[in-house]
Amino acid sequence: MWRGDRVEEGAGLRLPELRLPDIKLPEFHMPELKLPDIKLPEFKMPEIRLPQLRLGNLRPRWPIIQGGMAIRISTGRLAGAVAEAGGIGVIAGTGMSEDELGAEIRIARAIAPRGVIGVNVMFAVRRFAELVQRAIDEGIDVVISGAGFSRDMFAWGRAAKVPIVPIVCSAKLARVSQDLGAAGVVVEGKEAGGHLGTDRSMQALVPEVREAVDIPVIAAGGIVEAADVVRAFEMGADGVQMGIRFAASKESNAADSLKQVYLRATDEDILLIQSPVGLPGRAIRNKFTEDLAAGRVEPSKECSACLKKCSRAFCIREALCRAQQGDVETGLIFSGQYVGRVHEILPAKEIIDRLVRQVLELRAAALTKRTPIPSTAPAGGSTSRS
Ligand SMILES: Cc1cc2nc3c(=O)[nH]c(=O)nc-3n(C[C@H](O)[C@H](O)[C@H](O)COP(=O)(O)O)c2cc1C
Repeated sequence: MWRGDRVEEGAGLRLPELRLPDIKLPEFHMPELKLPDIKLPEFKMPEIRLPQLRLGNLRPRWPIIQGGMAIRISTGRLAGAVAEAGGIGVIAGTGMSEDELGAEIRIARAIAPRGVIGVNVMFAVRRFAELVQRAIDEGIDVVISGAGFSRDMFAWGRAAKVPIVPIVCSAKLARVSQDLGAAGVVVEGKEAGGHLGTDRSMQALVPEVREAVDIPVIAAGGIVEAADVVRAFEMGADGVQMGIRFAASKESNAADSLKQVYLRATDEDILLIQSPVGLPGRAIRNKFTEDLAAGRVEPSKECSACLKKCSRAFCIREALCRAQQGDVETGLIFSGQYVGRVHEILPAKEIIDRLVRQVLELRAAALTKRTPIPSTAPAGGSTSRS
């Protein structure tokens, strides 16, 4: 019964039971999608690398050697900075006493305790054997000989387990060096700074030497920019040696006024002089080179007979020292052919970091154009001198 809007419970009202019809939904199957079995080619991004330079047990992080530069342009400070940045830093022993060389090696070692440090001594120096021996006694990692080499120096290196690397300028000399036990050879072309052993270009020499020997080949002469480094690797070089780029660095021991001359010099300022050593030398034109050409340079009054052979036309040690000290008019300024490409005095680390980055970029660009790249080792290697 209704009372108001409520339904009294139990009043007997029944609502009809609602029965929904049993609806059976049809079974629905998704058709199986069969994709054709396509195998996509595996794409692996090739690793961009630099060659791993191996000299005996030495594995510098980067295949870059800072060339030894006398007199006192590349001392312990520069060699240490280069070694600490992952290259091979080289002290020029020519023009130093054994004690001075020993002290410079210790300076470099203090800067780069785990870096690779070398010494360069010109074979023409009278005290060549004593200087090399002293470097070995000081625990030098590698010895590089400039302008010649002797059979005995390979024996000294073997006995002390120190790699010996002569600078050569022909495939024939490279092969002789290999037979005598060289750990590698620096192949220096006519573009190099300082004394020259050839009138042929580095680009002509490197492929010939690569063909002639199995030991590591290091290209030198005219290598300033990343593109030069890439070209050297493409010719089969395992490493590069760079001189003038590091002479014009923050840690170079050249006087500031000399570094400014390097920055101002252009290709037209470069010439060859006849050195009393008996070799041509590449230098920057100045009052000294003009006086020399005009026969106005006097022989030294105090010759110390520092060279095995010397014409004594003038004292090259004194002339190079004057330039290193900042006398850029009456000093002899040795320089590589392409000093004009050097535009900034940078710390050695920045030179190396920039160079490595740009070389890797150039190699990556070459890869995407499918240009053949020589076989290599990981880009981010680490220095080891076990
Ligand atoms: C100022 C100067 C001094 C050098 N002194 C030496 C040296 O004492 N012994 C040596 O083997 N090479 C010497 N070189 C050659 C460099 O070590 C290096 O092989 C050469 O300069 C490479 O050419 P680049 O300057 O075009 O890079 C000298 C080069 C320069 C610029």
